[in-house]
Amino acid sequence: MRIHLRVWRQAGPDAPGRLERYTADPVSPDMSFLEMLDVVNEDLIKKGEEPIAFDSDCREGICGTCGIMVDGRPHGPDPKTTVCQLHMRRYKDGDTITLEPWRAEAFPILKDLVVDRSAFDRIVQAGGYTSANVGGAPDGNAILIPKTASDMAMDAAQCIGCGACVAACKNASAALFTSAKIAHLAHLPQGQTERTTRVVAMVNRMDAEGFGSCSNEAECEAVCPKGISIRNIALMNRDFWKALISP
Ligand code: SF4
Ligand code: FES
Repeated sequence: MRIHLRVWRQAGPDAPGRLERYTADPVSPDMSFLEMLDVVNEDLIKKGEEPIAFDSDCREGICGTCGIMVDGRPHGPDPKTTVCQLHMRRYKDGDTITLEPWRAEAFPILKDLVVDRSAFDRIVQAGGYTSANVGGAPDGNAILIPKTASDMAMDAAQCIGCGACVAACKNASAALFTSAKIAHLAHLPQGQTERTTRVVAMVNRMDAEGFGSCSNEAECEAVCPKGISIRNIALMNRDFWKALISP
């Protein structure tokens, strides 16, 4: 296949950006989306031009490093799929695809399609440690946790920190990410001791990083590659307000 691309190019954080046209040729339907970008970059390098900067690491949908707006949708058209797991069989010969970086004040553009997502790390750091002494790895059945609680904790813990939820939100809210990180401990016994201080610290850090407020429209849930539910945001809000009125 031959695929036409419009790609956001920006030399640095303060440089002006623009969409530039490229052609990926040849593209196999079996290639992943990032392998298609590798083809474009190999061509650019051969011509002595600057390759397109984009983030990736595992390319298996588990690390959260990749993240590109594909035709205006974070991670592209396939539900519950990271852009590294999107495949070119999704497209037809001659298609034109537009690629842009995440757009959010709290995620400044570093270069081309790469943004700085360290604000997410600082939210997690604000949550601090749990003081429960959990010792060595216990037998799976040694700590009795209701199945529903462990399921909800594991569902929340699937968040890979990609930032698609922020990119999809008109307010650039990080509520889905932050609530997933809060909820995976809030459902478990080990997370109870610092539950109150953790939610206040993480929500305050989220606000200080410049993310917007949640207006409950669920674009985040619709684009999340791990299917994180907005019910985690409800838990975060309940815990936060309880913490504010508790002594
Ligand atoms: S909640 Fe979903 S979209 Fe947001 S960072 Fe986590 S995995 Fe990515
Ligand atoms: S590169 Fe790891 S999730 Fe895409």
